Amino acid sequence: MLVTSALPYANGSIHLGHLVEYIQTDIWVRFHKMQGHTVHYVCADDTHGTPIMLRAEKEGITPEELIERVHAEHSADFSEFLVEFDNYHSTNAPENKELSQTIYRALRANNKIDTKTIEQFFDPVKNMFLPDRFIKGECPKCHAKDQYGDNCEVCGATYNPIELINPFSAVSGAVPVRKETEHYFFKLSECSDFLRDWTRSGTLQNEAANKMNEWLGELGENKLSDWDISRDAPYFGFEIPDAPGKYFYVWLDAPIGYMASFKNLCTKKGLDFDEYWKQDSTTELYHFIGKDILYFHALFWPATLEYSGHRKPTSVFAHGFLTVNGEKMSKSRGTFITARSYLDHIKNPEYLRYYYAAKLNGSMEDIDLNLEDFVARVNSDLVGKYINIASRTAGFIAKRFNNKLHSPTANNVITEIREAASVIADSYANRDYARALREIMKQTDAANGFVAEAAPWIIAKDAARDSELHAVCSDALEMFRLLTLYLKPVLPKLATEIEAFFDVAAFTWDAVNIPLTEHHSIQAYNHLITRIDVKQIEAMTEVNKENLQPQQAELSKVQTKPATTAVAADEAAYISIDDFTKVDLRIAKIVNAEHVEGAEKLLKLTLDIGEEKPRQVFAGIKSAYDPELLKGRLTVMVANLAPRKMKFGMSEGMVLAASDEKGGPYILSPDNGATLGMKVK
Ligand code: MSP
Ligand code: ZN
Repeated sequence: MLVTSALPYANGSIHLGHLVEYIQTDIWVRFHKMQGHTVHYVCADDTHGTPIMLRAEKEGITPEELIERVHAEHSADFSEFLVEFDNYHSTNAPENKELSQTIYRALRANNKIDTKTIEQFFDPVKNMFLPDRFIKGECPKCHAKDQYGDNCEVCGATYNPIELINPFSAVSGAVPVRKETEHYFFKLSECSDFLRDWTRSGTLQNEAANKMNEWLGELGENKLSDWDISRDAPYFGFEIPDAPGKYFYVWLDAPIGYMASFKNLCTKKGLDFDEYWKQDSTTELYHFIGKDILYFHALFWPATLEYSGHRKPTSVFAHGFLTVNGEKMSKSRGTFITARSYLDHIKNPEYLRYYYAAKLNGSMEDIDLNLEDFVARVNSDLVGKYINIASRTAGFIAKRFNNKLHSPTANNVITEIREAASVIADSYANRDYARALREIMKQTDAANGFVAEAAPWIIAKDAARDSELHAVCSDALEMFRLLTLYLKPVLPKLATEIEAFFDVAAFTWDAVNIPLTEHHSIQAYNHLITRIDVKQIEAMTEVNKENLQPQQAELSKVQTKPATTAVAADEAAYISIDDFTKVDLRIAKIVNAEHVEGAEKLLKLTLDIGEEKPRQVFAGIKSAYDPELLKGRLTVMVANLAPRKMKFGMSEGMVLAASDEKGGPYILSPDNGATLGMKVK
């Protein structure tokens, strides 16, 4: 089996919404591996496109530097959440370039590529064509200002950017002009019959198949239009063969990134790539995705594979979106929670894995993370019930029986727990983890019931009942062993610690039927998990109120269908005085200003704020200022901004400047009398 999760964009942090998908896939993969199947789980960063190019530019680094940094961050986030990819690659890799070009050539040879001259918005200042999401203006329906080129976040209308009133470029502020350009198209309109068959072959969930029918229309009707797969330079991506200055649209090479990541794994492990991707492959291919990108995975991707001579996915599994406390994740409420801030505050990733698993049922419904319920559930199910079985019995085995177990007795509860294996396995296989966990918790209750009734702490007081105590505690631990095995896809780290406690090999599903035998020695029991404190949750939401820059979230969604994105900016109208005073503003004297070789927009400023050593700051004001004229001026700087390494050196602060579509930047000057180092407040 080859299994994938969608490739996260390389310009934003992983957040708890993303993790719904990666945790869901990881559980499925771990379950299948426990069953003894050969499974390869691959993923990669999705690195191409305009938002990534512009973001790098803004940070003063190259796109390659940006994606390398993000790759390291994403890899660390995933590994700490125990998402165990067999390979985590990048779409900006040689394998992907070669595969994208090969596939494109095959499509062209199959007469599936066309060119058409189209008109697009062009930014005359920035000299680039603008994707819809980088054009803003007034909504033609409700007249809300500052709306995106393709939909209005105020009234929800969708439209063509040409309909916007007073459009402007979100990149430079310039008024965009219409300009003709030749684009390459994949002739999707010729793929309806194939896609209809593919949809009906059991590859999609019912809800997704219905959506497909909407897109495909009635039989005989052709609702599909050709797919624009090219973008003009400047663009961060792969150039199209025989088309200088034309690049593959990021969504052309992104899914091919699944193949590329696998190809890279094949090289490392000596696997046969073609066996998995040839037209008549007998291996299985599964894609886990969010419902927002179904369009790409259920239309473009299978058609691309079909007409380039490759196998098609066995199934595409779409899931819903995460809400937090019943609402869209929100920066002002602090519920736009990054993976990193969760790790910093809650620490244990398995709590989130458990909570998500308890909610996921294999459908496309949204899932809600209710933070109060999260705390209650983890504390009661995992700590209160499950771990409790071991913590009430393991000590006696250590103290009284020299860590040696008794063989399990003919205990009904053990039998019942063992017989639940097949329901639990079916539920995992069908991605109904909620059902699997309901069943496991039912059995956990039964095990706790057994311990409560047998009351080993009472038996222990009577030396004559030693062998009874031994049997009760050993039976309870056999129950605990079975429950741990069932929970292992969800709680892999805890399960590994418990394997060490039992001193057994890594659990496979078969181990259900292999109880520990007489005299098996276990290790000392250490308390394994602790309760979550609500205070940890509060601290986590607090930092998320401050940490995430709005544009980071916005940019990371720019290329997808907007309708279901959960990341629309949601800024509170007011900040508190405390928020404001966090910013340390100082009067700074520009003691030196100079051009930076190779930088289009930056000037290097040396700023004196009365410290021992002046600060070096890179400011994007080259378009408006001659450095010679800046020397000696006073201005305002942010003195406590974290220093940032830029392509040209460290930047140790920021100067403030005013600008809008019509002009700027204009840096600030204090009134007469202000001197360097003064605090602005
Ligand atoms: N780069 C594309 C995918 C290319 S696949 C060839 C992309 N990236 S993403 O970073 O925006 O999202 C990655 C995955 O996370 C997608 O499947 C997306 O649906 C999922 N999620 C992102 N935000 C989410 C929530 N708030 N909730 C649930 N899943 C979410 O799309
Ligand atoms: Zn509107």
